[in-house]
Formats: sequence, structure tokens, C-alpha cells
Amino acid sequence: MLNELLTQKFKDYFGENPTLLVRAPGRINLIGEHTDYNNGFVLPAAIDKAIYFAISPRTDKKCILLAYDLNDIYEFSLDTIRKTEKSWANFLIGVLAEMLEKGKQINTGFNIVFGGDVPLGAGLSSSAAVESGMGFALNKLYNLELTKLELALIAQQAEHKYAGVNCGIMDMFASIHGKANSVIKLDCQDLSFEYFPFDFPEYSLVLCNTGVKHNLGDSEYNQRRAECEEGIRRLQSAFPQVDSLRDVTIPMLRSQADKLSPVVYNRCKYVVEEIERVDVACKALENDDLKTFGQKMYETHQGLSQDYEVSCPELDFLVEQTFNFDSVVGARMMGGGFGGCTINLVKADVVETFIDNITLAYKKTFNRELISYRVKITNGVEALHSILEKVS
Ligand code: GLA
Repeated sequence: MLNELLTQKFKDYFGENPTLLVRAPGRINLIGEHTDYNNGFVLPAAIDKAIYFAISPRTDKKCILLAYDLNDIYEFSLDTIRKTEKSWANFLIGVLAEMLEKGKQINTGFNIVFGGDVPLGAGLSSSAAVESGMGFALNKLYNLELTKLELALIAQQAEHKYAGVNCGIMDMFASIHGKANSVIKLDCQDLSFEYFPFDFPEYSLVLCNTGVKHNLGDSEYNQRRAECEEGIRRLQSAFPQVDSLRDVTIPMLRSQADKLSPVVYNRCKYVVEEIERVDVACKALENDDLKTFGQKMYETHQGLSQDYEVSCPELDFLVEQTFNFDSVVGARMMGGGFGGCTINLVKADVVETFIDNITLAYKKTFNRELISYRVKITNGVEALHSILEKVS
């Protein structure tokens, strides 16, 4: 077990048991992509791939961060908190800095060992898991009394300021608010949310990892965001009441087509359609209508690939391949894009055959290994109390 390995590492390195052990999951998103920063809806869930934190407070001001998977260490003092060259450490430092900026009292340093099995750059939000886990751990260790929502907002700020990605709120919100066997329908306008049961024993959620590493810091993500903002600015001349793409309909957009560049028009069109699609997909879920739900996933992929242009040949190939399988009801690229995983809703009894066949096809076409995961929907970030009890 990963948490046991981390606890052991903590003991070996710091010579004591950690005070607290935290599990912070990665996330999937069923539908609603690139809608969060447009005030739309998303439908994510936390999964059984997570980052674990073993942590203890110190009596001095020193903070020691040990990245188990990278076999790397970073040390700093509470008196000199700043961005570092070690990009992995910035995710943790960013959370700490945000908390201090909010006036929270953290007067002693800490020792941390962290690591896990959320694959990096695969679109499963390993960075949000790190930020959410760090926030949750500090909140608990220093009794900061931050709410879950505040923790999510702090994690998002850390990502903006310390990782340079102007991400939406979805990833950290899901890692923190996840609930077993449920998806979260989050309204990114007012941050209200409801859980929808997602418990279909005859279907499995399968992620197919292209192995193409996305790097959202690579400015394409921020560029999409800027294109949406440009669309809003132009639409506001005709519709001053428009605050975000959430307030826009397709007829409104069409009426202004000549005022927008084709690229900006297509970006806006995709987002407006996707916000609507999440709603339709949720209604289908309520009616146990996975066929319609799956169809919406395919439509999302089409939009992400053609209009939003965040897909890549590998992702498109994997989605197209699923048309050869009656057992797949829906598939699409997931997350920010430009690589990472597809998410597939597959009949549980043929998952193995599906994975074998698609792996072969992928190898033949791209000469790359496809790594697939069958994921389960779990609770969000939590303290692993059994360990806490053992050490306290
Ligand atoms: C990344 C971002 C999220 C969201 C998705 C696309 O995961 O971190 O905020 O915008 O891309 O839906």
C-alpha cells in the first residue's frame, strides 16, 4: 500500500511517526469540459488514484518537503516563502503562501513526505490532488478552520500564482468534495453543487492513457481562456447583460458571427453547446439512460476536437476506435487536452477484451504503449484515521 510506504519513508527520514496521513484523490470528468472557467456546469468525480501526505509539525520554522516518487527534497523557512526552481515544490508552497496571505496562523514549520499513483500529465489532475491534500493537511494540523470550498479556492489560487495555469475550479473542487459512487454536478457560476448517483455495476469507467504528456502551463490552455474572454467582450457590445458564456445562446452567437474571428466563434460555440450538453446528460443520468449520456460524451469529443481544438491525433484515434465496440456506450478525451487520457464507458463483462484490442490497435498505429486503468469513484480528500489513531 502506498500510504504504508510513505509512512515508512517518513519514519526512516525523520525518525518518528507522522502525526497525520492524508489521501487526496485525482479526478475524472464525465462531461462538461472547458466550461468551468466559463461559469458553466461540470460533472467530475474523485477516483481511486490518489496522492498521499504524511505530515508532522516541527518546533522550529523549518519546512522539509520530500517528494517520494521523484526522490527529491526541498527545504525552506517559514520566514522566506517564495517560488522555487523545483516546480513540484511550488504546488505545496503555493498553498501555504495562500493560507498565510489569508491571515491564517501557521507559526511552526513541518515535515512532509508525499507521493502517490495519479499519473502525471495524464489529465487526472495530479497537481490539484497535491494542492488539495496539502491544504487539507495544513488545515487539520494547525486547526485553521477553513471550509472545503475555501480549501478549493486556495488550491486554485496556488495553481494560478505558483504554477502559472489559469485553471478553473473543477479539479480541486472534485478532489475535495468527491463522494463514493457519485458524480458532482457543479455550477461554476455560484459554486452550488449536487451529487448524482453514478453506480452502474454493469458498466466500467476505463481511462486509456495516450502517454502523450500534456503541459497546461504550455500556454495553450491560457490561450483558450483568453479566446473565450475575447468572445465575451465582443458579444457585450450587442448584449451588455452578458457576463460570461453561460449567458449566451447559439442564436445570440450567430447574430454576432461577423464580429468574431472564426476561431473565437468556434471556441464560443463549443462552450455554449457544452454547457447545454451537461444539463441534457444529467437528465439522462436521472433516467438511467446511459445511451443518451454516452452519445453526449461523443458529441463533447467532437466539439473539443473540431471547434475547441484541444485534442490530438492519439486521442482522436482512441475515440474513433471505440466505434468498433458495441460494448462502449460513450468515449471522449478528458481534461485540458493535448494528450492525456480518454474516458470510456464500457460494458463491465468485456472490459478486458476492449483493453486488449484497443492496446493492440494503438501500438500498431503509433508504436506507443497504451496504459489503461479501470477506475472507481471514491470519496474526496480525507484523513486516514486508522494511522492517526495508531500514532497518537
Ligand atoms: C484542466 C483545468 C480545469 C478545466 C479542465 C478542462 O483540468 O485544470 O479547470 O478547465 O482542464 O475542462
